[in-house]
Amino acid sequence: MEKIKFIDLFAGIGGFRIAFEQTGYKCVYSCEIDPKCQEVYFNNFLDKPAGDIREIDINSIPDFDVLTAGFPCQPFSICGKRKGFQDTRGTLFFRICEIIAAKKPPVILLENVKHLMHQDKGRTLKVILYSLEDLGYNVNYSLLNSKDFGVPQNRERIIIVATKNKQFNFNKLKKNKCVAKLKNFLFNSENFEYLEPDSYTLIDKPKQQQSGLIFVGYRNNKSIWKKGVRPNTHHLSRVHHQPNRIYSVEGIHPTIPSQETSGRFFIYLSQEKAVRKLTIKECYRIMGFPENFKRHENLGECYKQVGNSVCIPMVSEIAHQLKEQIFIGSQGEENGNDFIAENKEKTDIMDTRERAHVGAPLLSNRERSNTPTQKRDRTSVLSN
Ligand SMILES: C[S@@+](CC[C@H](N)C(=O)[O-])C[C@H]1O[C@@H](n2cnc3c(N)ncnc32)[C@H](O)[C@@H]1O
Repeated sequence: MEKIKFIDLFAGIGGFRIAFEQTGYKCVYSCEIDPKCQEVYFNNFLDKPAGDIREIDINSIPDFDVLTAGFPCQPFSICGKRKGFQDTRGTLFFRICEIIAAKKPPVILLENVKHLMHQDKGRTLKVILYSLEDLGYNVNYSLLNSKDFGVPQNRERIIIVATKNKQFNFNKLKKNKCVAKLKNFLFNSENFEYLEPDSYTLIDKPKQQQSGLIFVGYRNNKSIWKKGVRPNTHHLSRVHHQPNRIYSVEGIHPTIPSQETSGRFFIYLSQEKAVRKLTIKECYRIMGFPENFKRHENLGECYKQVGNSVCIPMVSEIAHQLKEQIFIGSQGEENGNDFIAENKEKTDIMDTRERAHVGAPLLSNRERSNTPTQKRDRTSVLSN
């Protein structure tokens, strides 16, 4: 049976690849500049990505159905007249556009940090959306959070989907009604790094924030200025920078960032009444990586790589919906894609539980709810 083909640009350690392969797609090309990421990618997929995207020969990319890219975003210095994607010349996004223009894939899936929405007062996002439209696509985007897809991490990412003809509907993504708790994703025995009780302060009556985080305290640090911080407002105080904050395992974990290469993620175990570091294996677990994923040998590199990656169950659900809505659904014939009709019955859509498998206990109740899509409003973007 022929699988739907995708390419993995800015591949990192292959987060998109795992998610799409789990959902039954086939990777036909990948590209990643960093040799350490390439090494991890090869160890896991036995496939070495091409290097710098600016230097690859576009003609050497085989035909594909979906382009995936979590690209580093640079601001565009647009100087006036709208010239389509030519406005993005000199940036990595311009290169993505060149590949799209040459290969005309049915689907484009882009992922980026939430800040993209605000970068350059919203102009960066505006240029991206218009460029894709000018290339002949229907474009839609949404801000998605990993915590809605079965992992206990507050990680917001903007997802842009560009399609020919039929527009992708984010409202159909299946989200968990109940947010998973961090405690259900932890290992029981490991060489844990505990903090000495006198090296941290727990606050009175910690409350669960709307995000699902439960800030319980902070590491004592001489540079922390505690004077004037009112009781029960510690979690709001800027004096407690992220590496000093301690969160309860009864809630979720904050975003695993790529910059925190010494892994200063501290968690409070309510049953043991102790604070320890989240282990690297646990970091990969709350991103949805499979247990058998081969990490880089250098710990700092592992933290950087996982922080740069994507939440696998979230991307898996998007990949699943792309199949349902664009490649298999009745829209298929509309799209004129021969693949669709031929493979409608044959396609092996994995069970939702499998797709969301992260090697940790899954929620027993994966009831789903829809949340509103952030459909683009051209006027509001323009007014920025
Ligand atoms: C945000 S990360 C994407 C990570 C990926 N989605 C994953 O799951 O691991 C962006 C990646 O783009 C790569 N990159 C940056 N410039 C590049 C270029 N010119 N050509 C190819 N890859 C590049 C970086 O090395 C980095 O790994």
